[in-house]
Formats: sequence, C-alpha cells, structure tokens
Amino acid sequence: MSLPGRFISFEGIDGSGKSTQARRLAAYLEGQGHSVVLTREPGGSPGAEDIRALVLEGDPDRWSPETELLLFTAARRDHLERTIRPALEAGQIVICDRFADSTRMYQGLRLTGLRALVDQLHDLMIGQEPDLTVLIDMDPEIGLSRALGRNGGEERFESFGNDLQARMRAGFLDLAAEFPDRFVTIDGGRELEEVAEDVTRAVTGWLA
Ligand code: ADP
Ligand code: TYD
Repeated sequence: MSLPGRFISFEGIDGSGKSTQARRLAAYLEGQGHSVVLTREPGGSPGAEDIRALVLEGDPDRWSPETELLLFTAARRDHLERTIRPALEAGQIVICDRFADSTRMYQGLRLTGLRALVDQLHDLMIGQEPDLTVLIDMDPEIGLSRALGRNGGEERFESFGNDLQARMRAGFLDLAAEFPDRFVTIDGGRELEEVAEDVTRAVTGWLA
C-alpha cells in the first residue's frame, strides 16, 4: 500500500552521527516548507519508549537474542501504528533514526540463523520499508569512541565492543548492496558540515 508521505531512515553503527544528521535534515526540510516528523527507534511512541528502556538498559545478558528480537519488533509495531503510519497518511515526511535494518544487523547477526527469523517476523508484523535509507558509514573505532563519550545509562549495546561494531559496519554495507534502490551510503568520517551537505544533496535530489 502506497501512502502519500515519504519515509526516510538513517542507519549505521553506534556513534556514526545518525542522530545528529537526522536532526539537521529535519530542520533543513522544515525550513524548505515541508511538514516533518523526526522520530527514532527503539522508541518513537510512548509504548515503544517504555520498551526502549527494557532493551537498552541493564546487563548485556538480560535478554536472549530471541526475546530481544520480539521486544524490538513489539516496539516497532507500536511505533508504526501510532506515529509512522498516521504521519505518512497525512502526507508528512517521516525521518526515523534507525528502523528495521538495525534489527537485521544487531539481532540478525548475533546468532547464526537468526536473520531468517528477523525477516519472517518483519514480514508478519511490520511489512513496511523506508522509501529511502541513508547509511552513515564509519570506522567502528571512531564510532565507538564517539558513542562512549556521549552516553548515559543506555550502554547495553555499546558494551558489546569493537568486534561486533566491525561486523555491523560490514553488514550494513552488505545491506546497502542488497537493497540498492532505497539505500544511499555516505562517508560519516568527516566534518559534520561536510557529511550534512552530502545528506542534504542526496535527499533533496531524491525528493525532487
Ligand atoms: P549516532 O546517533 O549515530 O549514535 P550521534 O549523532 O549521536 O551518533 O553522534 C555521536 C557523537 O559524535 C555526538 O557527541 C556527536 O555530537 C558527535 N558527532 C556527530 N557527527 C560528528 C562528526 N561528523 N564529527 C565529529 N563528531 C561528530
Ligand atoms: P540508538 O539510540 O540509535 O544508539 P546510537 O545512537 O548509539 O546509535 O540505538 C540504541 C541501540 O539499539 C543501538 O546500539 C542499536 C540497538 N538496536 C538494535 O539492536 N535493534 C534494533 O532494531 C534497533 C532499532 C536498535
């Protein structure tokens, strides 16, 4: 089903600059007269924000990979029902900091065979992809040091360390190759302004 709005997601490893770039893009598009909803995952609706605290805080072994997948999917379903779909139906531009590609990576790569389960659950309960996905590609060591420099209590995933971040980076690049029609990949290892210029150029070109 095609809705009148546009759905843009930002993806990349922790600390790659997604939130910064998503915020800047939202401000830029609003300045151009668009109606924009800036949102994030996990979270983006009251119920999904509650689930966010469950999955991001506490011991790294708090959940099994399967339970964690169900929690992220439950959060996404609520976010989709309450925030994303209503905005798309109203013709707005939704900018989402992470979406289902993050689950394909963070849960799908954690255990052998889990990616197939991620895709099945996505088809069953979500069934929606972004129209455009901006992948901010970045060296994992730089990303991790940026992310750790910033954090409060949400360190469950960052504490998985450099090795996982390196696999995520490679995994995201593979995803971009798997879905070339909706992915645009931008080098995040540069000055904030340079990255922002590339993001703006890619998105305005696509919107036109
Ligand atoms: P993400 O949402 O991908 O985890 P953030 O946007 O929160 O990343 O950025 C992580 C940290 O790095 C923040 O403190 C942010 O201010 C900083 N940062 C973002 N982009 C850049 C950049 N291009 N150069 C240097 N620091 C950056
Ligand atoms: P986020 O707040 O975007 O963290 P960061 O700003 O550091 O990139 O996301 C928090 C963590 O949640 C991040 O480490 C990735 C993880 N995550 C998943 O494991 N699965 C998912 O489906 C999503 C959306 C996020």
